[in-house]
Amino acid sequence: MNILIVGSGGREHVLAWKIRQSPKVKQLYCAPGNGGIAELAQCVDIAADDIAALVQFARENKIDLTVVGPEAPLVAGIVDAFEQEGLKAFGPGREAALLEGSKVFAKEFMHDCNIPTAQFHVFDNVEKAKAFITRAMYPLVIKADGLASGKGVAVCKDLMEAEKAVDEIMVRKVFEGAGAQIIVEECLEGEEVSVLAISDGEHFCLLDSAQDHKRIFDEDVGPNTGGMGAYSPAPVLTEKLRKTIENRIIEPAIRGMQRNGTPFKGVLYAGLMITADGPMVLEFNVRFGDPEAQAVLPRMKGDLVEVMLASCEGWLDKVELGWDKHSCVCVVICSGGYPGEYETGKEISGLKEAGAMSRTIVFHAGTKKSGDKFLTAGGRVLGVTSLASGIEKAIEQVYKAVDQIKFERSFCRRDIGSKAFKWIRRRSEVAR
Ligand code: AMP
Ligand code: GLY
Repeated sequence: MNILIVGSGGREHVLAWKIRQSPKVKQLYCAPGNGGIAELAQCVDIAADDIAALVQFARENKIDLTVVGPEAPLVAGIVDAFEQEGLKAFGPGREAALLEGSKVFAKEFMHDCNIPTAQFHVFDNVEKAKAFITRAMYPLVIKADGLASGKGVAVCKDLMEAEKAVDEIMVRKVFEGAGAQIIVEECLEGEEVSVLAISDGEHFCLLDSAQDHKRIFDEDVGPNTGGMGAYSPAPVLTEKLRKTIENRIIEPAIRGMQRNGTPFKGVLYAGLMITADGPMVLEFNVRFGDPEAQAVLPRMKGDLVEVMLASCEGWLDKVELGWDKHSCVCVVICSGGYPGEYETGKEISGLKEAGAMSRTIVFHAGTKKSGDKFLTAGGRVLGVTSLASGIEKAIEQVYKAVDQIKFERSFCRRDIGSKAFKWIRRRSEVAR
């Protein structure tokens, strides 16, 4: 088969790495790709949101399956555009992708399907929004309706912060059209976990759990980022909790989309808060998480291409996913200044040494190749990933590898995975 991956981050690198292992693959392309992906696939200079050019490339190069990494092309309808041309693409169509493309749509959908989520109000008018937040209880959460690269959410501790968030989204329009409507919702407390499922519109399989680390600094301090690291499995997710999430969240969502006549194919990612009242949905995404994919896919046994074909063709009930018992930890190394402004073009050293360590893979996110050197080309630069028996060993291993890698003003969190200890300790106390 000829396969095309769309995207250029760490998620697309792990997709390329996993897809390369499939005996079905003849040619692998990635548009636009990055320095690391170029070692596994032929990179094609087409932007991930240039749908017309991607369709043309797929037609001309006899692509049998296109795998879409990021949300923007999915929300813009890339899968519909491919299918109209008789081309196969893994991911939801435009209407199903609204689960991520519009938070108002997602909240109303959850409300209709009785899926547990925070109480919310929707506003399209600044005065009404301000009148509401003046009377509200704090903390509360304010969200722009549309795509905002993970930056459209503000957790506000008081009225001043809430007014600032409303002004930014609705008056200064920093997210442009994505801020035409806002959601004001109850602030939930608990631990966050991501549960991903792959669906063919009717059947679905849950992937093993992963936990992201969204804040920039250790101990979850500082602004939100795209994700500073992840580990899998996440022991906060017991088998019982997993069943609850399957029955109360994933299954009703798949059935609801089916009922609406917009069956959901592809990856349904539920961002959850495990509260004292049980799991509640913070958001749905319609694609693999980044960096969750870097922690989950290395543990997946079997052929990912087969799973994706089953999703496109409607036979996921014939597929069983298996998981490596080892723990996997991915630590993201960033450019100094991220998630604000940062410089690029810095030479990266130590990649070979890190990659040569036991069961360690260095996934590239923002890099580019220049001759035989790799240079930084983004905020999140690398996702160093290790597998080992047990989370402690995986953490030790991954940081040994991280310490091999150097570039000017690089930094990473030093506590990725350590949240797992609390749950492991708690469980062993209960067992005793
Ligand atoms: P979202 O893009 O909706 O997942 O929001 C980004 C981040 O904001 C989440 O990962 C949470 O850390 C936080 N967040 C979103 N909604 C809530 C909520 N209702 N209560 C508390 N934190 C939230
Ligand atoms: N890691 C969060 C996301 O992919 O949205």
